[in-house]
Amino acid sequence: NLPMVVTGAASGIGAATCRLLTEAGHRLIGVDRTVATAFPGTFIQADLSTPDGAHAAAAQVRDAAPKGISGLTNIAGVPGTAPWRTVLGVNVVGLRELTRALLPLVVEGGVVVNLSSVVAEGWQRNIDTLRRFALADDPEAALDAVASGEETIDDSYRFSKECVRLLTEHFAAEGLPRRIRVNSVSPGPVATPILDDFKRDHGVDKVEGAGELLGRFGESEDIARVIVFLTRDEAEWVNGIDLRVDGGLTAYRNTRAD
Ligand code: NAI
Repeated sequence: NLPMVVTGAASGIGAATCRLLTEAGHRLIGVDRTVATAFPGTFIQADLSTPDGAHAAAAQVRDAAPKGISGLTNIAGVPGTAPWRTVLGVNVVGLRELTRALLPLVVEGGVVVNLSSVVAEGWQRNIDTLRRFALADDPEAALDAVASGEETIDDSYRFSKECVRLLTEHFAAEGLPRRIRVNSVSPGPVATPILDDFKRDHGVDKVEGAGELLGRFGESEDIARVIVFLTRDEAEWVNGIDLRVDGGLTAYRNTRAD
């Protein structure tokens, strides 16, 4: 029973995923900037906003799991109200560096699940910019290109979650020879501590309107259950995709776009 690594384990969707994985009999290694109290496994405090922070976290995971890990769920994320460097740092650079470092440790037939978002719908329109940023050899240089205006990004959160879709396909292709499946999940609004940030970022009316339309906001467990499904052998043939988990919000908006 090799452990599963969960980032963002201290709060919201990550904490719910840890609860459900524990119930399903998984051993856990949680990673978060914030210390999780009474964590049901090994907990590693780490700042995933920089490559160095992600590499330090990976080194601690290697020490805690010398025989390997069953998978990695990249759930840590920050909303668009944070400075853009933090948004791209955590949501893209940290996720990418941690995944690169830990993929060799994932057992054959293991899994990776990433958290994207419904805001990344239509991400392929932006593919050249996404490739230049998310697949850059030097992530710090890619961030500097944004800082200098050489690369223009109008919405850091949306861009970061589009990068997650690209990285999901990229790592799925890389994992294929070892049968490591890599998928992403895209929630609509979920009642977690960052929902208020989304209201500030996307507008209160839009977010509250979504809650009214759906009858409620998503709960962390609504998303965690799907993440856990993707980790199971039942989902063996699901690979390299994004799974939208938004209660029907996007379908509703798409059909009313005109
Ligand atoms: P949350 O704020 O409850 O959890 C995010 C976790 O990430 C926190 O425990 C936080 O400490 C951790 N984190 C943030 N920066 C970090 C860093 N530098 N290093 C290590 N850990 C760090 O939020 P929630 O809602 O559970 O978010 C989980 C994921 O779901 C995020 O990637 C978010 O973008 C995504 N998401 C959330 C939606 C929502 O409406 N809540 C909608 C769509 C996507």
